[in-house]
Amino acid sequence: MKKILPLTGGMRGDFEIPGDKSISHRSIILSSLGDSTVEVSNFLAGADCLSTVDCMKSLGAKIERSGEKILITGNGLHGLCEPENILDAGNSGTTLRLLLGLCAPQKFLTTFTGDDSLRRRPMARVIKPLTQAGASIFGRNSNKNLPITVLPATKRLRGINYQMPVASAQVKSAMLLAGLYADSPTTIIEPAPSRDHTEKMLAAFGARLERSNNAIKIFPAEKLIAPEKISVPGDISSAAYWLVLATILDGSDVTIKNVGVNETRTGILDVLGDMGAKIEICSVRTSGGERAADLRVVSSKLHGVEFGGEMIPRLIDEIPAIAVAAAFADGTTIIRDVGELRVKETDRLAAIVDEFNKISPETFSATGDSLIVRGGREKFFAACKTRADHRMAMSLAIFGAAAKGVELDDDSCVKISYPNFFDTLLK
Ligand code: S3P
Repeated sequence: MKKILPLTGGMRGDFEIPGDKSISHRSIILSSLGDSTVEVSNFLAGADCLSTVDCMKSLGAKIERSGEKILITGNGLHGLCEPENILDAGNSGTTLRLLLGLCAPQKFLTTFTGDDSLRRRPMARVIKPLTQAGASIFGRNSNKNLPITVLPATKRLRGINYQMPVASAQVKSAMLLAGLYADSPTTIIEPAPSRDHTEKMLAAFGARLERSNNAIKIFPAEKLIAPEKISVPGDISSAAYWLVLATILDGSDVTIKNVGVNETRTGILDVLGDMGAKIEICSVRTSGGERAADLRVVSSKLHGVEFGGEMIPRLIDEIPAIAVAAAFADGTTIIRDVGELRVKETDRLAAIVDEFNKISPETFSATGDSLIVRGGREKFFAACKTRADHRMAMSLAIFGAAAKGVELDDDSCVKISYPNFFDTLLK
């Protein structure tokens, strides 16, 4: 249980944020497929990425910590080995979906499980295209829930053309990883661009990829050539809480250092900007194909906006934080096309409506796949449930801090993506 008191006065100073979760996962997976040692700095040692570390170790990679850095040595693209036990992806959809893609073409058997939340999440979306490419994967019931078993591949997977029904970087990445081992190129067509960290990192490892509009084609590879170092930028999804809180708290002026500003992830900057936030993007630099910058944010008055469509994949994980901003804005915010929120770590659409309304009654509602936020209503102290979802916990915490305080039933779930979140909030 955690009680957050209202924050008086604005936020000031410089903020460091943890490394990007998506890029940290990919740095472990791809480095395990090279045959030299890669030093990863600013790796996010959150529970999700540690699930990936454990799974990749079970698949034969050598992974060790050296101070703040992680050293990974693989046995080459074709050097993975059969795990001796079931692989546990914990709470992590990224671990599970990407590794299903990686294991589908292997000549050995793999079985996956995960925690209560992950065992409920739909996996058919990734098993279907992998099966189409020739893999044999079995899950529980028609949603292909965990536990899932990948049978040994008896021949090479086929290169396929796959039109994804939903924009999902996890499904795309699974197909890209499987495509490395296929007998011909694999093409994935997305309905809207999702985060492209896998493509960027694969290119940095020497894989051949071609992009045209929303189609991405990967060519089979004999080997990957690992870079000596990968420097992970800060996670914009973690920066989101400070971007929102500093904006809505009067008298704030903060700089968030070294934030990843890959175009496929910066929807929150565009939307908060449209709402009237003052966010300056400073010192933009590029490292390992990924852009990073410092973000300076000063408090400002917000107004409601409407958005949806191609914007959604660019800010899908930031919607709970954006909904908090919208509750402090003048007027109504309408966020369309957010059905995917229903299949995140919890049903985030229901969680936002049920839990956020405890702080600001009659503010949040859902109609079909839209979230509607009527801003400017009265806020109260409330006891809220995080539903063991890290992004719900952090969004509720900043909501309470900017309102009349909040009591959270469980705060431990922030370990998934931002282990020292409360230290930073309460400092
Ligand atoms: C992620 C992709 C997104 C995102 C998740 C991380 C990734 O999920 O919500 O937190 O690292 O590829 P989907 O692929 O389901 O959209």
